Amino acid sequence: KINAIITGVGGYVPDYVLNNEELSRMVDTTDEWITTRVGIKERRILTEEGLGTSYLARKAAKQLIQKTGVDPDSIDALIVTTTTPDYKFPSTASIVLGKLGLKNAFAFDFEAACCGFLYSLDVAAAMIQSGRYKKIIVIGADKMSSLVDYTDRQTCVLFGDGAGAVLVEASDDDGYGVQNSYLRTDGQGLPFLHMKAGGSVCPPSHFTVDHRLHYLYQEGRTVFRYAVTDMSDDVTKIMEKNNLKAEDVDWVVPHEANLRIIEAVTKRAGIPMEKVVVNIEHYGNTSAATIPLALWDHESNLKRGDNVIFTAFGAGFVHGASYYKW
Ligand code: ACO
Repeated sequence: KINAIITGVGGYVPDYVLNNEELSRMVDTTDEWITTRVGIKERRILTEEGLGTSYLARKAAKQLIQKTGVDPDSIDALIVTTTTPDYKFPSTASIVLGKLGLKNAFAFDFEAACCGFLYSLDVAAAMIQSGRYKKIIVIGADKMSSLVDYTDRQTCVLFGDGAGAVLVEASDDDGYGVQNSYLRTDGQGLPFLHMKAGGSVCPPSHFTVDHRLHYLYQEGRTVFRYAVTDMSDDVTKIMEKNNLKAEDVDWVVPHEANLRIIEAVTKRAGIPMEKVVVNIEHYGNTSAATIPLALWDHESNLKRGDNVIFTAFGAGFVHGASYYKW
């Protein structure tokens, strides 16, 4: 049996810190509202003109390559999961591959909104377990500031920019690495979370720009309800599937959208907050980057043999959980 193991984690967040105090001068909000309702104090924003998601992704991957010492020529595939690609085409992954100078890899983008990293880690693991590939870089990267309306207090307080990258390698270390997953797509989420224009249904035009249709739209309360119900269910299912009791779980690494969502999900699963990796306070919701950035922040606390549960929820709706033996 071939095992798919994460052998390194890299990360990158831009230098610019947008804190609640600055936001409260931009829109009608307060540090108190954001902190108590969402749990965010600050987020990082990529402010340099002309730089997009590929820049964040490349920085995270460069750090990963340096840290692990992996030979770039030995990488078989590069997956970038993002909702904020540099361009409609070519893929962001192809741009990142070019910048990194990977000579023997193929690259593709994978879009599953905030669930992108969870889904693509599973895809990478299956590719490795098939025996056809040995080393895959998976990058979760999003420049959410590129689709956030900074006049809309309901959404602009939530998001930040960043990227996290992992190296997934084939190993004969039985019992370690990606174990299995419970991934689902609901398909009913479109009305509640989307960007109205810019795609093939409503291509960009003066009308779409004038009507501010190029920003993220969400019905926050509905998304909140679905997120709590689905992620709780997913965590329970993955624990049942692997005969894990709450006390067997060492860490939950959830998608970071709202601290109250994370608290509600883990409470339902009977897992105390000391076992939950949370960094939303400093980075906000970085979409596909939240889970790898949380791993990056928390890597030194993870011990060999720890039982780790990943769980995420995003536009679509897409959601799920997976079980990883560190
Ligand atoms: N500052 C102050 N007041 C605000 C703000 C703000 N930034 N935003 C909203 N309010 C007000 C509202 O206008 C409302 O006022 P009203 O009662 O006078 O109408 C009041 O606060 C309560 O609004 P709610 O929407 O009920 O607030 P809620 O507690 O639900 O928090 C939030 C809103 C944070 C958006 C929450 O619903 C949430 O986290 N939803 C889930 C978001 C999410 O997970 N998105 C995930 C995926 S994103 C992706 O996939 C790319």
